[in-house]
Amino acid sequence: MMTTNEGIGTRPSRQAGVLEEATDAGDAPTTEVGPIEVRGLTMQYGPLVVMKDLSFRVRRGEIFVIMGGSGSGKSTLMRHMIGLQEPAEGSILFEGVDFLGADVKTRRDILRRMGVLYQNGALWSGLTLAENVALPLEEYTDLDAEAIGEIASLKLALVGLKGFGSFYPSEISGGMRKRAALARATAVDPEVLFFDEPSSGLDPITASRLDDLILQLRASFGTTVVVVSHDLASIFKIADRALFLDIKQKTMTALGTPQELRENPPSEEVRQFLTRSSDAGPPTGTEAHPDESHPPARQSP
Ligand SMILES: Nc1ncnc2c1ncn2[C@@H]1O[C@H](COP(=O)(O)OP(=O)(O)OP(=O)(O)O)[C@@H](O)[C@H]1O
Ligand SMILES: [Mg+2]
Repeated sequence: MMTTNEGIGTRPSRQAGVLEEATDAGDAPTTEVGPIEVRGLTMQYGPLVVMKDLSFRVRRGEIFVIMGGSGSGKSTLMRHMIGLQEPAEGSILFEGVDFLGADVKTRRDILRRMGVLYQNGALWSGLTLAENVALPLEEYTDLDAEAIGEIASLKLALVGLKGFGSFYPSEISGGMRKRAALARATAVDPEVLFFDEPSSGLDPITASRLDDLILQLRASFGTTVVVVSHDLASIFKIADRALFLDIKQKTMTALGTPQELRENPPSEEVRQFLTRSSDAGPPTGTEAHPDESHPPARQSP
């Protein structure tokens, strides 16, 4: 992973002026130095340089969106930020602690403070929703089964799934599965929540409800949220600040509020990305879902 090859593509100079200026801009709720800092990061798969020269801080309590076209490296960046992938160059600091230099216990402590929803992260199909939500509680806490059961119910209720604990993932809609996964990711009250493409596979209304839930979560618990997204409606609705990964330049070319980046785009790519007339969304399309406003009525087989 530590190769120095440049890989494919050219290496155009960074639009430093624009970017540095935008770096400190933004409307995040607090100016406090945030829990995560990315310093001079280069990400590679073997000789393939995905992104280089990434430097930014996520502020405490903000909703920070990583945006960019398909294949620009959004998911790869998220995996670096949670310590799953090793930087080819540079470092990631969580509360000032470098993942790479950290011992096993420190890494575990850091991971315990993070909640993660992967892009294709599914619930365990053989477990009920309550059992899925209980998993991180069993792994990271010493609570007894009864307490875990109560917390699992509470977490499911917080995402609007009260009474669905005994359901299996196959018995609920796509939007409900995302919310159940959110309940699981927040089970141990993470300080930072990572969410890769919350709206993928959801119809616009269901996606918008999930965005509401993310906003509520931040408002209620002050959770810092890092969201990977290419969905414009969602970006404009939830992002305090958004980072743009430019696939051609192989680096970040914008960081700021979506509004200011749209009004004053630092590059043509950013302008195009933020003013697309339609957001086609992921090719998987929309999943049908039952009316979720009614209490659950289990159908007998
Ligand atoms: N495990 C891997 N091994 C080799 N290359 C990979 C691997 N995962 C991703 N890549 C490559 O790295 C680049 C960035 O991929 P990544 O999945 O991070 O992009 P993305 O922005 O999340 O895309 P999408 O919007 O489609 O989810 C792509 O060129 C991809 O082909
Ligand atoms: Mg991705």
